[in-house]
Order: sequence, then structure tokens, then C-alpha cells
Amino acid sequence: MIYILDTADLGAIKHCNEFYPLAGVTTNPSIIAKAKTDFWPLVESIRAIIGPDKMLHVQTTREKAEDIVEEAKLLQERLGGEFYVKIPIGEEGLKATMMLKKLGIGVTMTAIFTPTQALMAAMAGASFVAPYVNRLDNIIGDGCEVVAQIVDQLSLYGSDCKVLAASFKNAEQVHKCASVGCHSVTVTDDILKALISHPMTDAAVAGFNKDWTGVYGEKTILDF
Ligand code: G3P
Repeated sequence: MIYILDTADLGAIKHCNEFYPLAGVTTNPSIIAKAKTDFWPLVESIRAIIGPDKMLHVQTTREKAEDIVEEAKLLQERLGGEFYVKIPIGEEGLKATMMLKKLGIGVTMTAIFTPTQALMAAMAGASFVAPYVNRLDNIIGDGCEVVAQIVDQLSLYGSDCKVLAASFKNAEQVHKCASVGCHSVTVTDDILKALISHPMTDAAVAGFNKDWTGVYGEKTILDF
């Protein structure tokens, strides 16, 4: 499983980059706008925190294929490293994906809600497809079932394209996607934390500490 952080909150990125096996950061125009700050200093700060070897996915704001390509080239040039431009699925987006494939710029095709969209994106050359799990669940679609169908179809057609499931609201959705072989997920820092938290774990650790300090006080192994 590839874990990616879906935020432009620099504090959250610093924290998660230190404490979790993070493969990178994704953003979208809504996430960037939430930071209410200048675009370039923000995305360059994200790159500086995660370094060149981790993935940074930044979404285009343009609609015509040629404009998307122009923006992607600039983003790649300024952000460098493992960079992917996020492009919403659509005719112009597919055209841009095919053009970017020739230029060697990675594409994450986003705003995916069906397996047919995902398969087309993969055939156009996208490196990742990003289905929106919680937004599907919100309209009584089954987000994880859609992810499962996409995983199966990409495998059936021998595609290298990976599923980057997005739009999660809880750990259970992530678990269900992991269970069907979803290659990667992009989640908030809260969900990363929820994925490793359990009250029984807290109780177990409290018990270990109590038993140890009851006999050895504040001593640690280094003190013996
Ligand atoms: O970046 C795409 C996705 O993660 C959006 O999530 O919470 O706006 O549905 P959300």
C-alpha cells in the first residue's frame, strides 16, 4: 500500500513525513485555496519538506489540453523531483494525458467516479487514477466497490496504471479499499492517525508502563 497525504497544511505534512511511511502529498485547487496563501511558496514548501524522491501531485487549473500541458511543464520545471500533474477526466484531459505521456510527465487522472472513466484514463497513459470513495458513498454509490472494479479491470488489461483512491472520511473506507488490492490511498492526517489508533493498544501500553515503573521506577534499559 502506498500512503499519500491529501493536504497543503505544512504542519501536517512535516509531522506525517516524519512519523509515517509516507510516499508523498496530493493537493487539489480546493485544498490549495484552503491555505489562503500564495501558490508557489506553498507548493515549493511542500516539495522542500518531502524532498525530491517523494511524490508531489498538483492539479491543473486549465481546461484546454494545450493549456494543461503548458501548466504541467511549468509545474514540473519548478517543483522537480517525483512530480505528477492531476487532471480531471474529460476529453481535453485525455488529450493532455497523451501529450504529457510523450513528454515524460506523470499524470494522475482525477475526479474519477466509474470504472469506465478509469480504464480510459489508463489507456491514455495516466500513471494513477483517483476514484473519489466518500463522494460515491455519499450518493449511495459504493466507493470501495468501484475501486475494486477498477483494480480488477486494470489488472485484466495488464495496465501499469495504479489506483490512487481518494476522498476518504474514515479508516473503514481505507481498510475496505486495501482489502480489494487498491494500490494507493491519499488521506488526511486525521485518517492516517485513525488507521493506527486503538483503545486496546493504549490500554496495553499503559499496562506495560505501570508494571515496569512498579518495579524499576523511572529507570530505562539504558540505566542498567
Ligand atoms: O483530492 C481529491 C479528493 O481527495 C477530494 O476529497 O474530501 O474533497 O471529497 P474530498
